[in-house]
Amino acid sequence: MSQVRIHNFSISLDGFATGEGQAADAPFGHAGERLHEWMFATRFWHEMVGGPGGSAGADNAFAERYGPGIGAEIMGAGKFGPPGWQDDPGYQGAWGPNPPFHTPVFVLTHRPRPSMRMEGGTTFHFLDATPGEALEQARKAADGQDVRIGGGPTVVRDFVTAGLVDCMHVVQVPIVLGRGVRLWDGLESLEESYDIEAVSTPSGVTHLTFTAKNR
Ligand SMILES: NC(=O)c1ccc[n+]([C@@H]2O[C@H](COP(=O)([O-])OP(=O)(O)OC[C@H]3O[C@@H](n4cnc5c(N)ncnc54)[C@H](OP(=O)(O)O)[C@@H]3O)[C@@H](O)[C@H]2O)c1
Repeated sequence: MSQVRIHNFSISLDGFATGEGQAADAPFGHAGERLHEWMFATRFWHEMVGGPGGSAGADNAFAERYGPGIGAEIMGAGKFGPPGWQDDPGYQGAWGPNPPFHTPVFVLTHRPRPSMRMEGGTTFHFLDATPGEALEQARKAADGQDVRIGGGPTVVRDFVTAGLVDCMHVVQVPIVLGRGVRLWDGLESLEESYDIEAVSTPSGVTHLTFTAKNR
């Protein structure tokens, strides 16, 4: 069976995966870019945005696991766009005409719309469905490859709660946000169902890997 994976999911020391005040020009609200500065410094990211350079050390080794073997992504309405995007029938997502996914992407929303084929192999499909139903569709589209849960925190939490996630890579960044949307709220005793390892790197972040037991 294909795996369900989460990568590069960044949280503050107090567990927030996004700040307060999300908007088109502030996708992470008051957090700004601080949750992902570790990733922006890597070669993985430089390659993704089409430039040379970037660090090739431990942060990069974690970051570059994001793409290989992934055949589809599932994300929440809050990652797809700022609050209220559902009111704009022409809205095409936060990434422009050529989004960085290059696979089918299933956007969970209570206000679905027709699918949108973008440049570069990304097609957005909009689903009002339970996590299990969405995963069934994403698995079919992934055609034997793995499915990535792309976030945000509400959707990651829902998939973990439903017991659907096989591997989760969380990056704890040494900042305190104080407000926003937390990853961990309502989750309990994950250490019973996951092997958890922590590795800190010279950039100051801690990579946490959660690997489901007995699968
Ligand atoms: N830290 C990271 O690494 C990381 C990664 C990705 C994203 N983010 C950030 O996370 C934020 C978004 O996270 P979020 O927790 O606010 O929202 P989210 O998880 O992206 O989406 C939640 C929303 O998706 C819709 N939804 C969820 N489950 C559904 C279901 N089963 N059926 C139908 N609709 C469903 C609902 O929206 P509606 O009711 O409006 O349809 C719900 O409010 C953004 O700021 C983004 O930039 C952070």
